[in-house]
Amino acid sequence: MFHKNVYSLIYVLIGVAIGLLISFLASPDYATVGKFAYQQQRSAAITSDDGHGHHDAHNDEEVDDSHAPNSILNFHAGSNHTHGGETEVADKIKNHVRVFCWILTGKQNHDKRAKHVKATWAKRCNKFLFMSSEEDPELPSVNLNISEGRNHLWAKTKAAFKLIHDQYIGDYDWFLKADDDTYVVVENLRFLLLPHDPEEPVFFGCKFKPFTKQGYMSGGAGYVLSRQALKKFVGEGLPNPKKCSLSEGGAEDAEMGKCLEKIGVKAGDSRDSEGHHRFLPFVPEHHLIPGHIDPTFWFWQYTYYPIDQGPGCCSDYAVSFHYVNANLMYVLEYLIYHLRAFGIASPHASGDEIKAAYEAAISNMGADDVFKKSNATPKKTSSNTTIITKP
Ligand SMILES: *[C@@H]1O[C@H](CO)[C@@H](O)[C@H](O)[C@H]1NC(C)=O
Ligand SMILES: *[C@@H]1O[C@H](CO)[C@@H](O)[C@H](O)[C@H]1NC(C)=O
Ligand SMILES: *[C@@H]1O[C@H](CO)[C@@H](O)[C@H](O)[C@H]1NC(C)=O
Repeated sequence: MFHKNVYSLIYVLIGVAIGLLISFLASPDYATVGKFAYQQQRSAAITSDDGHGHHDAHNDEEVDDSHAPNSILNFHAGSNHTHGGETEVADKIKNHVRVFCWILTGKQNHDKRAKHVKATWAKRCNKFLFMSSEEDPELPSVNLNISEGRNHLWAKTKAAFKLIHDQYIGDYDWFLKADDDTYVVVENLRFLLLPHDPEEPVFFGCKFKPFTKQGYMSGGAGYVLSRQALKKFVGEGLPNPKKCSLSEGGAEDAEMGKCLEKIGVKAGDSRDSEGHHRFLPFVPEHHLIPGHIDPTFWFWQYTYYPIDQGPGCCSDYAVSFHYVNANLMYVLEYLIYHLRAFGIASPHASGDEIKAAYEAAISNMGADDVFKKSNATPKKTSSNTTIITKP
């Protein structure tokens, strides 16, 4: 009798607890938490000294810390069955579009963020390196010997690109800068870059309007410089204070955009042929759910190209998302590289796969992309694969 009562009481308490949890999760307040975080960050940014460090989350705590245990890292590191091994086309393209990725981080974020970037998307780059305030051969990370904090981000970016230029420029075609809370679908980055000649002075990313005529690329969604753009940045930009600001501070992405504009590096159009964006400045949820991004939010004044909310926000070949915490990185890995709907085949290139991939990449280009199909002329490379480049 006594036992029975105690058990029913426990069941009632458990029921109440579950009920409370469900109502908390379903409440509109919970759904707007992210929005508030962005708003708070914006308010913090406009009171900061550079005045437009609006979308930099490096030293902020809005991005949740990871709960991912080390065992997940090991599981992912050992996993070798991406979509049943159907990666041949991507593997071939990897040899033609060689991407060096560098990830901006700090020693306080090695465990919280950097190691999860390494365990997820970074391994798909041809090479990657974390640029930090502490050396760690395990990541690996470089100590740039530059102070922490948002007032030194521009100095870090300049030092990082200089180091990569000096040590790696000959071995790679494209140079991606990402944050430690950026998630990148590296195969889709290569698909965007495939028709472009790395000797073209161009950079791609999520294009914002202010501070420049041609636009600049938001830092958080990541941006990619061609080999030629990196050569010009280091050779013509850095040594000339009239082109590239000598200061340590300032929003690194806007400073980069101003500098590249002055030295004739074009701000490319990274949208797809339907006008859908490929570099996304927020987490997927905030783009995919209509109304999630407040109409008064600074972002609407910043975006260079119009962007829909809802399913039309994002390209099927999206390249990046920002504000991705460690947990979401593992979720995205699973959704992108493992989960499949049975019986629904993904489009498969047949015959000359690389040539088909180039043609697909060209027909998927954004309206403002300088490269036009009529300019395309096939050329043979040393590995006897047809590559289309500008004449
Ligand atoms: C993954 O699979 C590919 C193709 O089967 C193989 O070549 C490669 O060595 C494997 N990698 C690892 C880490 O087992
Ligand atoms: C940072 O300073 C250390 C110690 O002086 C040096 O070994 C290292 O090369 C420096 N890093 C860079 C990127 O210059
Ligand atoms: C290059 O590839 C083509 C078509 O796949 C083939 O006919 C030709 O013999 C190859 N050339 C060399 C030098 O391997």
